[in-house]
This record gives sequence, structure tokens and C-alpha cells, in this order.
Amino acid sequence: MEKKNVDWANLGFGYMPTEWRFVANYRDGKWDDGELTQDATITMSECAGVLQYAQTCFEGLKAYTTEDGRIVTFRPDLNAARMSDSCKRLEMPVFPEDKFIEAVEKVVAANAEWVPPYGSGATLYIRPFMFGINPVIGVKPATEYQFRIFCTPVGPYFKGGVKPLTLTVSDFDRAAPHGTGNIKAGLNYAMSLHPVMEAHRNGFDENMYLDPATRTKVEETGGANFLFVTKDGTVVTPQSDSILPSITRRSLMIVAEKVLGMKAEQREVLFEEVKDFAECGLCGTAAVISPVGKIVYKGGEICFPSGMTQMGPTIQKLYDTLTGIQMGRLEAPEGWIHEINV
Ligand code: PLP
Ligand code: COI
Repeated sequence: MEKKNVDWANLGFGYMPTEWRFVANYRDGKWDDGELTQDATITMSECAGVLQYAQTCFEGLKAYTTEDGRIVTFRPDLNAARMSDSCKRLEMPVFPEDKFIEAVEKVVAANAEWVPPYGSGATLYIRPFMFGINPVIGVKPATEYQFRIFCTPVGPYFKGGVKPLTLTVSDFDRAAPHGTGNIKAGLNYAMSLHPVMEAHRNGFDENMYLDPATRTKVEETGGANFLFVTKDGTVVTPQSDSILPSITRRSLMIVAEKVLGMKAEQREVLFEEVKDFAECGLCGTAAVISPVGKIVYKGGEICFPSGMTQMGPTIQKLYDTLTGIQMGRLEAPEGWIHEINV
């Protein structure tokens, strides 16, 4: 199969429509079978639930070309399960998890020419999403929904690739206590737009959000979880009910402990103790693992010993192992790699 003629090495994280997407509709209390379509547009009522009351959630995963030329995805079952959790919290109908995985397989296989070649530095980002489509004017859930999956080839999420990031501690919260921070609701990202633009206007790459109840504990950024490394080499990630349970982070904790034999802890992380860590990184599907060099807050700044030019050694080891598993260079734990039959 011929790959598309794309300058893979210079892709940023943007939308480049590919030929095929999947669409299924929920009406009269059930999902239809769904189908692949070339139509990238959606026509809906001006009063659609998604437009009026933001009834929408989404997922994000990637397809990779392995060293031996296979096309694979990484733990799509966890994206299917997390989307079910998002739907339940937003009073949306669950799209069956086995059908979710089948739809991912169909979209990726149909767009195989768009899966960037091994070693190109790019990957195919897959975006499943669902929204309320029928008219809703009183505040209540829609009765009709559309589930879609499109994909787009992407490069690094943060400009500058693996150059360490500078963060600032946001004055705003991205989630409420007992709110929707732990699901992938579009509304969480709408909440984060003003804070992230403020961060950019002030010269920072991203925000660190603190826990909304006490503002003393580290939560996450707008699109990635935190990983810290202590001076004695323990990997630490924040525990909180209002952060998104990142599949990358959950996988990295297993990689750290089971593959690399390191100590790994998920626990509450006080902002006060961040200055004592040796390394810091952001992890997520889009972010992969992006190193953080500096965090600026009111009254000071924290400069990690790993510096502003490269990843720290532990974050680098985690990055190499995770991407090695995803690209088929290293053996994966059972069930992590889902091959797509093209
Ligand atoms: N946190 C937020 C708020 C996100 O949007 C994402 C992206 O999906 C993540 C964390 C990382 O999650 P995952 O590793 O499952 O992509
Ligand atoms: C992802 O990593 O898949 C995300 O959804 C993060 C961001 C693009 C919102």
C-alpha cells in the first residue's frame, strides 16, 4: 500500500481530513449499525442538544506503524470503557464497547494510507466523539445522538517537539469538586480555553491546575496528566477524583513498576513538594511524554534539575520504553497492542 504524499516529519498537531470516517446514529432508543462515509460535514438543528447545552464527549487514541510494517493501536479497550463512563455521566447512551473497537478498526483500515510510516515522527490521531443531535430547549438530555470517528495524521502536540516546557500555575480551575473533571466531556475543554490563552499571552506553554477545593494539590494540565520523579528515582503521579484517568499515565505506571523495576506511586501531591522533585513530565495520547523544565507561580519559580534543554533520564527511559512498545520495538504487556487488519 502506498502511503500518502505528506511531509510527515514536519506535521504539527492539526486537523488534516482523511478520506473516511465512521458514523452511527441513535434513534428510538437504539444504535444503528453505522457505516463509513466520506462526508466530513454534519447537518443538524440549530437547537441540537450539543449546541445549546454542550452535551458531547470524546476520546483520543493513535494508530502507529510498527518497525515490521504492521498498523496497531494502543489499548483501545480503555478508550471504549472511558467513553462509556463519560456517556453515563452526561446522560448519553453508551456506544457498545465492542462496536467502538470495531469502528476504530474500520476507520483506521480505510485510512491506512494516512497512517504515518515507521520512524517518521508522526502518528495517526483517532478522534471518536458523540453528541446530542435533536432539538432540546428545556434543560434535559437529547433523545437522538450521533457517534463519529475521524482521524488525522499528527506530529508533536507541543511546538518544539521534546524541548522542555514552561508551565504556570493557573488562577482558574479546569474542573469543579465532584464535577466532570474525571470524564472526557467537551465542556471541560471549553472551561480551559481562557486559562490556556492567558497562559500563552503571558509566555507559558501550558497551565498546571491545582485541586479546585483547596488549591494546595497538583491536578493536571488542560490535556495531560503529570508525572514526577523524586530525587531517589520514584515515579509519582497525582491521585484526585477530578482529573482524567489518562491511559498513557496508567500504562506508564505499569511500565515503571513492572517493566523497568522502578518504584511508582499514585498519591496526593502537594504543590508545596513539587520543588523537591528531580524531573517532571506531562503524559497523554497527544502529549506522549513531554518534559517540563520550569513552573512559574505567584511568588517564585521551580526549575527542575533536568534543565531546559533535554528530558531528564527517568522521563527519557519511560518515553523510550512506551514508544518502543507502541512502535513494536519492545515486547508489550498482554493485550496492550491491538493490530489492525488492513
Ligand atoms: N488529561 C486530560 C485533561 C486529557 O484531555 C488527556 C487526553 O486524553 C489526558 C489527560 C491524557 O489521557 P490519555 O493518556 O488517555 O490520552
Ligand atoms: C489526547 O491526548 O488525546 C487529548 O485529548 C488531549 C488534547 C488534544 C485535548
